[in-house]
Amino acid sequence: MSSSDKKAVAVVGLNGELGKPTLLALTSPQFKEYYKFPIRAITTSNNKFDEFSDSEVSYHKVDYSDESSLVSAFNGVDVVIDLGTRGNTESLIAAAAKAGVKLFFPTVYTPNYGPEKNDYPNLLGFKNVFHDDRLKCVHLKVGWFADWVICKPPVLFLSLEPNHAVRVGDGNIEIPVTFVSDIGKSLASLAHHPPAQLPEKVCIQGDAYTQNELFKLYEQVKGVKLIVEERSHDTQSQIAAEADKKQNINIIDFMNVVTATMTSPKRNYIDYNKGEGAKLVNPGIFEWKKIVPEAKKAWSKEK
Ligand SMILES: NC(=O)c1ccc[n+]([C@@H]2O[C@H](COP(=O)([O-])OP(=O)(O)OC[C@H]3O[C@@H](n4cnc5c(N)ncnc54)[C@H](OP(=O)(O)O)[C@@H]3O)[C@@H](O)[C@H]2O)c1
Repeated sequence: MSSSDKKAVAVVGLNGELGKPTLLALTSPQFKEYYKFPIRAITTSNNKFDEFSDSEVSYHKVDYSDESSLVSAFNGVDVVIDLGTRGNTESLIAAAAKAGVKLFFPTVYTPNYGPEKNDYPNLLGFKNVFHDDRLKCVHLKVGWFADWVICKPPVLFLSLEPNHAVRVGDGNIEIPVTFVSDIGKSLASLAHHPPAQLPEKVCIQGDAYTQNELFKLYEQVKGVKLIVEERSHDTQSQIAAEADKKQNINIIDFMNVVTATMTSPKRNYIDYNKGEGAKLVNPGIFEWKKIVPEAKKAWSKEK
């Protein structure tokens, strides 16, 4: 690839879930030929990652409330990948458009919710579609972070008590997940395409799990017997509706809502591994990480 075809990329929001995995993907042998170096890392903090040399990543400190600081950070950039907290995206898009950026990935790395999202207007009522006539916005939809399902017990078990779990319905509902490292690779794989060739929404899914499958694996690997509370879909929806009305929510409230969306009869499960998005992102470039072997590895280490 000639140097004039390579894209200049800015990555915004380094210190959350997706910053480091995305920088690792952009600078990896699989994708680095497509990009100009150093990759521009746009941050509010003074933190720098040890993993990257100065020639791979340059850090630009910004103030989100000062548009001129964002415009100057984006000057000369072709693509902005927003990985930050929700709520700043509109100001980032405005600054990117002023700086002449052509492609923008808004921070909407959630499941591709359907009508079930509308039942929870407080917790799931955030804006998740962005459009600006001056640049192309591409929305990457990813399922749940598989890393969270493995490492944050309330995400899988819906309980804060050790070895307690709530099974919703028959426990066989397929829940789509993607590992954050694969989300980074997917962004690195998409960001070099001509913007006009990209769809506005790309849905991916590295894998899917059922509660029954992971409960059984957890019991085998940890050598414990889970105390399982059985809960119908209707009860789950009622609990989620109450959680959505609360002023102060905790992780269980949030997980009750997201689990209710997954088990909702309104939900139309689609296996995005077989869809156009997966083919566009990963036409045989990398192996999607699978949740069962990764969970086994992580839970064995914890013993
Ligand atoms: N699908 C899932 O299961 C799932 C789970 C979690 C998150 N997500 C999605 O992943 C994305 C990132 O979420 P996250 O939890 O990693 O985000 P986060 O921790 O809230 O924020 C990520 C980074 O954004 C930057 N930032 C932007 N605006 C900021 C502000 N006003 N105050 C403080 N920091 C700000 C900070 O980076 P700097 O320090 O570099 O400035 C921060 O480290 C979001 O789109 C979220 O919806 C999805």
